[in-house]
Amino acid sequence: MKPKYKRVIIKLSGEALAGKKGFGIDPATIHVICQNIKKAQDLGVEIAIVVGGGNIFRGRDGEGMDRATADYMGMLSTVINALALQDALENMGVPTRVQTAIEMKEIAEPYIRRRAMRHLEKGRIVIFASGTGNPFFSTDTTAALRAAEIDAEVILSAKKVDGVYDSDPNINPNAKKIDRLSYIDVLNQGLKVMDSTAISLCMDNNIPVLVFGLDDPENIVRVLCGENIGTVVKGDN
Ligand code: GTP
Repeated sequence: MKPKYKRVIIKLSGEALAGKKGFGIDPATIHVICQNIKKAQDLGVEIAIVVGGGNIFRGRDGEGMDRATADYMGMLSTVINALALQDALENMGVPTRVQTAIEMKEIAEPYIRRRAMRHLEKGRIVIFASGTGNPFFSTDTTAALRAAEIDAEVILSAKKVDGVYDSDPNINPNAKKIDRLSYIDVLNQGLKVMDSTAISLCMDNNIPVLVFGLDDPENIVRVLCGENIGTVVKGDN
């Protein structure tokens, strides 16, 4: 198998780490995901991971709370997830570095763009924690921002569903999967691929987003090798 990309961002939702438990961290699920990330790295791809925190706390779930405070709690949950991923990958012999956008130097390196790029060149997987470090921004926006910053060619957005649908497939059994979309389609049709800030950033910087399901974690390698299994969001679709 030959990868199509040299440097990518993998966006993992927090929920993906919870497995069937639906909440918290399921080490067996993380193990399988990391095995497949390792397979992808073994193909020679430089990989950075942006991880969400929805399995622990999501800013928008903080009903009645101050939004900024709730978002900071969400950012802290991404740090827990990043450490779980680091632990699982390093148990497999994959060198990693966690970089956090909110400084907590006893736990992880601070985010330093040039250092992150150097780690990638040296074959380390860099896991970005704490989102952008700012409330009101999602981890999808973090993926778009970091992709632009470190010159990643593409964002692999691993989800629970296997692509983008014209309506919610969990609610509407007749929902149709869409193979290709432009950024503008996503914005105009209000499709829930990423929030509008994240999609706009991808559009402005011409970063394609490949959305696919993590139900089969081998999909990570398939997508990297150019198989059209989910939904591609880019400028000229
Ligand atoms: P090179 O400079 O390429 O050798 O990279 P390196 O990451 O191995 O260099 P360094 O000696 O700076 O880091 C050694 C270890 O310390 C790595 O596991 C880093 O992730 C970790 N590390 C570096 N800076 C910090 C920090 O500010 N906080 C924490 N918690 N760990 C750090």
